[in-house]
Amino acid sequence: MPAADTAVRAVINLDLPGATISRHLYGHFAEHLGRCIYGGFWVGEDSEIPNEGGIRLDVVDALRKLDIPNLRWPGGCFADEYHWRDGIGPRDQRPRTVNSHWGDIVENNAFGTHEFMQLCEMLDADPYVSANVGSGTVHEMSDWVEYLTRGDDSPMADLRRSNGRDEPWRVPFWGVGNEPWGCGGNMSAQAYADLARQYATYARNHSGNALYRIAAGASDGDYRWTETLMQAISSVADPGSLRDVFQGVSFHYYTMTGPWDRKGSATEFTTDEYYRAISMAAKVETFIRGHAAVMDVYDPEKRIGLVLDEWGTWWDATPGTNPGFLEQQNALRDALVASVHFDAFHRHADRLVMANIAQTINVLQAMLFTDAATGALVLTPTYHVFEMNRGHHDAQSLDVRLLDEAPRRELEDASSVATLSTSASRKGDAALLSITNVDESTPRRLQFDLRGAQVTAVRGRVLGADAVDAHNTFETPDAVAPRSLDGVTLEGSTLTVDVPPHAYVTVALDLAG
Ligand code: AHR
Repeated sequence: MPAADTAVRAVINLDLPGATISRHLYGHFAEHLGRCIYGGFWVGEDSEIPNEGGIRLDVVDALRKLDIPNLRWPGGCFADEYHWRDGIGPRDQRPRTVNSHWGDIVENNAFGTHEFMQLCEMLDADPYVSANVGSGTVHEMSDWVEYLTRGDDSPMADLRRSNGRDEPWRVPFWGVGNEPWGCGGNMSAQAYADLARQYATYARNHSGNALYRIAAGASDGDYRWTETLMQAISSVADPGSLRDVFQGVSFHYYTMTGPWDRKGSATEFTTDEYYRAISMAAKVETFIRGHAAVMDVYDPEKRIGLVLDEWGTWWDATPGTNPGFLEQQNALRDALVASVHFDAFHRHADRLVMANIAQTINVLQAMLFTDAATGALVLTPTYHVFEMNRGHHDAQSLDVRLLDEAPRRELEDASSVATLSTSASRKGDAALLSITNVDESTPRRLQFDLRGAQVTAVRGRVLGADAVDAHNTFETPDAVAPRSLDGVTLEGSTLTVDVPPHAYVTVALDLAG
């Protein structure tokens, strides 16, 4: 592959680590929506597809390979019409309810609290439960926390035991509602802030289970919403009790290139739509910065974490599928959108503590596609970015200082987008460097001056394909899959990396001492 004539130079100080990149930035989200839970995770105990207690084993295996740190459930919008008591007890006696947000279909509640907790145990992932504020009660959330986490003979602990689970679970993450400005109750920021404090107050720490309560936050760049929440949090009388009310504040941001009624196809898009998607993805950093700046005013010690608990691409539903099920293909473009997000996440790891891509299986920017009839499973290009980035989990962020400006591409509206995105981290004697070349047609050579530690070995991997619309199907599951990259050389402390066009590259560095 011919590299671009001039190298883009950069410096990385391997001995100047920054904030720890929480592994929870690599979190996931599974809603009762379309075929994410039913037909995705859950096939039922009688299925011929290999399962444990109804949960697909190949799905668990694939997600464990990502070191999946946490799973958010049951929504999304569904969370604010979910009443947890409908999903406990013998399955054949559970009530049927209506999932009005997603297809207006009947929910049989076969997958409920115990099934979710079994799934988290199989995945070795921390549960992140979103409680119902929109149509629930303070009492209902309080009981759910007690049901899941209390060890003695309290009423809810006894109820749990009567449903077959003796020991309490550890459930650290709790969302207090979801999108309360919209599907979660159409509330004003102030109305939600007041209500959410009430919910959070009665969501207790039982039996040593410390809750991380997350206030449902803004959409995109609605900084006023974040400000209202931060004011409400900091107005708690005893400043020492700040942490007892909320530990996190969330926001949501989806990458879209058009209005809701014309979001565009997941696989058929123009060059301009491609660059627009990358440009929209890069915007996440503007929003992280903006929300973090507001939080800094009220919480300069950064005790409250920023949580991006829904992100990813949102395209028109795959033709022929139920539009309410939000099924979409996942192309190399989606993978590059993800890698650009992660670079921004790593740079803001001091405030951004958790992120959850929407959604794990068969919905929006999924990791996996499943076919419940044939039992087939396919890994998406986005899955591979998560896998290639595992070395960043709980590593310390490193600054990647570009000495030459990253080349830019112009969009039809005369705006422009940087064609290179990078980030790096260090964990002990290993470092990981991530590089995205979003330029559709031009390869790039990058030259890194690695300072502050001796590098003893380098290994490159690349995720690419002939075109940005390349994607994996049940027939061609490896059209987009990582392979090793030859164009990586180390001479002294100079690392040279030749990155193909529209490709994602990671370079693992072994450090001496
Ligand atoms: O992820 C799909 C939906 O997007 C979620 O249910 C909701 O929170 C958001 O609007």
